[in-house]
Amino acid sequence: MTEMLKKMRQRWKLVLGLAVGLLIFSVSVGISGAYVLAYTSTEEFCVSCHEMSYNYAEYKGTIHDTNRTGVRAICTNCHVPHEPGPLLWAKIKASKDVYYTYISPSIDTKEKFEAKRSVMAQRVWLQMKESDSHQCRSCHRADKMSVDLQSAKAQVRHAKGKAEGKTCIECHFAIAHKEPDGPGPAELFGNTATNSQ
Ligand code: HEC
Ligand code: HEC
Ligand code: HEC
Ligand code: HEC
Repeated sequence: MTEMLKKMRQRWKLVLGLAVGLLIFSVSVGISGAYVLAYTSTEEFCVSCHEMSYNYAEYKGTIHDTNRTGVRAICTNCHVPHEPGPLLWAKIKASKDVYYTYISPSIDTKEKFEAKRSVMAQRVWLQMKESDSHQCRSCHRADKMSVDLQSAKAQVRHAKGKAEGKTCIECHFAIAHKEPDGPGPAELFGNTATNSQ
């Protein structure tokens, strides 16, 4: 075998070695990433911090926690997008909460939580208004709602809301937590919708 052939073979071994290494690396990153994503999507994960912040206690017993059929909406169903891009972005943004938990705690006492509640609620409303209540619609499909099975009040308001281009959250707020002081979606988004609850 000539020198050149030998060298080429060595080079190929190196390339193959690197490729296999990269594959093993990506697979393990993928698997650990999947574990992180799965864990951070559980109710337990959110409650591990938010038990202190009263949102869990308020949510307990609402229709999204317990109902006739046992089909539930947990924290992440309403608060975290499902698509890979927005999901990743939401996770990155949520890293601020680690700062506000361990370095500069912002909601660790009832007083601090209540003082910040309105600001936090407004962030959620704004996000839901901008996404046309995307998270709600991932379960409640407007086109699959049997309108005739709904209450008369719901039928009238839904038809009106649709005509006025309103989104779910403009009428259905404070459905999982207490209504905060300060402006609600009606004041923020400038319309006359009222809380349906
Ligand atoms: C490490 C503790 C921690 C975990 C885990 C955590 N949060 Fe938070 N969260 C916080 C803190 C602290 C704040 C207040 C942030 C601030 O002061 O701006 C917050 C704020 C919020 C807000 C208010 C809106 C906003 O962006 O400020 C929502 C909604 C929220 N969290 C939902 C969740 C959900 C859903 C989960 C589970 C996926 C979760 N949190 C997990 C600590 C945590
Ligand atoms: C994970 C799925 C899921 C998500 C996400 C979800 N819901 Fe629901 N929703 C349900 C289920 C299940 C019920 C209970 C149905 C039943 O048993 O009657 C319900 C009930 C309701 C009701 C009826 C309340 C009543 O008293 O009859 C309203 C209003 C509602 N949801 C609005 C919303 C809004 C607004 C959002 C977004 C902020 C949302 N939902 C997000 C699944 C979901
Ligand atoms: C213009 C205001 C408005 C908008 C927008 C709106 N709703 Fe409603 N919704 C109501 C009212 C009012 C009721 C009746 C509540 C009652 O009977 O106490 C209702 C009732 C419901 C119910 C219960 C139905 C029943 O018959 O028990 C569900 C579920 C619901 N809405 C989901 C949604 C979802 C999901 C969206 C967004 C796709 C949405 N709503 C948008 C005002 C609105
Ligand atoms: C059915 C949808 C839904 C579920 C389930 C839900 N939330 Fe919310 N959450 C909202 C909405 C809508 C707001 C905006 C304020 C409001 O309307 O109550 C909000 C507001 C918040 C806020 C801001 C402070 C406040 O009280 O307004 C925090 C923190 C929060 N949620 C955490 C959680 C945690 C933790 C869970 C699970 C234990 C959870 N949420 C379950 C819909 C939901």
